[in-house]
Amino acid sequence: MVEISPSVLSANFSNLQNDLDQLKKTKVKYLHLDIMDGKFVPNISFGFPIIKSIREDNDFIFDTHLMIDEPIRYIDQFKKSGADLITVHYEACSNLDETIEKIKNSGLKVGLSFKPKTDIEKIIPYLEKIDLCLVMSVEPGFGGQSFIEDSIGKIQKLRSYIDDNNLSCLIEVDGGIKDHNLKKVIDAGVDVVVSGSDIFSHKENSIIDQVNKYYEIINE
Ligand code: DX5
Ligand code: ZN
Repeated sequence: MVEISPSVLSANFSNLQNDLDQLKKTKVKYLHLDIMDGKFVPNISFGFPIIKSIREDNDFIFDTHLMIDEPIRYIDQFKKSGADLITVHYEACSNLDETIEKIKNSGLKVGLSFKPKTDIEKIIPYLEKIDLCLVMSVEPGFGGQSFIEDSIGKIQKLRSYIDDNNLSCLIEVDGGIKDHNLKKVIDAGVDVVVSGSDIFSHKENSIIDQVNKYYEIINE
């Protein structure tokens, strides 16, 4: 079944646990944590203290998306803070194989992401070495942007390659996902869908209602 990974970037940080308590009342298993360094992307989000403090009372799979240069420097600290899955960017690592190994050797799941303008052919050779491939469907850095349509073709391509080669790598999509385009990414073949603003800052629906709406679409 397709899983939802709500991105806390769009949550209410002045009462974060209140938003997380709503997620706890749904079937959500993942929590997407967007880490930005102001260098790899033109924005700064949050870091270890926030992850550590939400780890105490929440059992979600911490899906940690590192939009930072040379993430290898901080793998140990993300592990200590409570990350379960660490996704790094292809463009951010001078030694990607070493970075992937370091995450695996820490006992964590490893994901690889790539920016919309990066050639997907560069990612294909890594699919057998990673647990998850994260397709960025917006330029990384900010929530609330519009979905880039050619991401669909990338998801389809990854799905075929993974299935044809019997790989276990999951496909995740991140950026611009709303209830109205969810079906499209599911049909293309994703396993995990990230959604931030459409879940945490929806104009009409509560977090619970919006997550349940996503599950209705998933179960269709
Ligand atoms: C963007 C982040 C996303 C972001 C998604 O750099 O990686 O996870 O929070 O937000 P929405 O769903 O609002 O596009
Ligand atoms: Zn993200």
